[in-house]
Amino acid sequence: MAFQLNVDHTEFLRDYWQQRPLLIPGGLSQFEDPIAPELLAGLAMEEGVDARIIQQQAEAWHVQHGPFEDYEKFGETDWTLLVQAVNEWFPDVQNLLLPFRFLPDWRLDDVMVSFATENGSVGAHLDQYDVFIIQGTGQRHWRVGERIEGAAEFCPHPDLKQLRNSDFDACIDTVLQPGDVLYIPAGCPHHGVALEPSLNYSIGFRAPNSAEWLAQLADQLLASEQNFPRYVDPQLNLETAPYCITNSEIAQVQQLLMQQLESTSGVQAIQQVISQAKRPLPQPEREITTVELASYATTDMLLCRTPGARLLLGCDNQLYANGDCIAAPEQLTAGFQELLQLDQEVALAECSAIFADTAALNCLTELLNIGVLHLVQELAEEDGEATD
Ligand code: SIN
Ligand code: CO
Repeated sequence: MAFQLNVDHTEFLRDYWQQRPLLIPGGLSQFEDPIAPELLAGLAMEEGVDARIIQQQAEAWHVQHGPFEDYEKFGETDWTLLVQAVNEWFPDVQNLLLPFRFLPDWRLDDVMVSFATENGSVGAHLDQYDVFIIQGTGQRHWRVGERIEGAAEFCPHPDLKQLRNSDFDACIDTVLQPGDVLYIPAGCPHHGVALEPSLNYSIGFRAPNSAEWLAQLADQLLASEQNFPRYVDPQLNLETAPYCITNSEIAQVQQLLMQQLESTSGVQAIQQVISQAKRPLPQPEREITTVELASYATTDMLLCRTPGARLLLGCDNQLYANGDCIAAPEQLTAGFQELLQLDQEVALAECSAIFADTAALNCLTELLNIGVLHLVQELAEEDGEATD
């Protein structure tokens, strides 16, 4: 089911985005949970799934990491199960990202789903990332404050950071009902406590820091095996002692790095890095050819964006996906727009603009072969489930 976020996008960006928290009561009308707590608990039992349980016992906080074998030992109250990137496992959860596509695709990170038992909480804390929290089943009491600089934090457990002062000034103090949405910008204190067993969906945004980006860029550039300009100093003189490094030498290093970042290959590498998925994408069992793909043009086979995959139109008019750069024509044709807009699954028979455009069709073939998109054969089974 596709939801709309009931907020004026222009006003939201102007008055709230990265500035102030916002409560959007009924933000997603007629909201239905895309996942049941039992399924979430089952997912957290799987290897390779990033899951943790945060539990409060008297004044002590405990954090345990998955995969979990059973949940009985945690009891009936005071704990929360948090599972990252649930959208990558459940297409219905992936669809929760759609109402947020008024923000750049590349800023979206993942959907974290939490199931809290009564009185479950992770404590008052700050996050480094912007987040929209959607209330699913059940109710949670949330307090959210304006951004505070230099707030004292501490770790009641090595894997848990909380605010020393959990009694921060709250500009939002409310009990969220299913379908309510809370926007919390990075750096704003917040504290949610479940009043009953409840599900929350956190649409997280990513904002890598400069060191993380530099590290990823260095990896990307080195893998490209180009010849990069090296440091040179033909003007070297005897004015400074041998053990000194001068301001102008530092400036030259900075200039060398800036030139690299600003060069065509640097701009390309930045976009390649940004288009990388968080985890390796599932790869197709075999390559498909454009001819074979064209033969499916009128079938009800479904074309799907692989959850977790990023597909971007670069500032140089190339397509960037999964760390690759895919040549695209200068004109953004209807076929390419259809390809880039693709969010949910769509029947190939409805992709006429792509099939009418050879360049777009070639790109589609390539995107299928690198796992950014995939095809699903719709089964005419009673439960209506689609499968590979
Ligand atoms: C939760 O879902 O319980 C915690 C989410 C958050 O505070 O970031
Ligand atoms: Co948080």
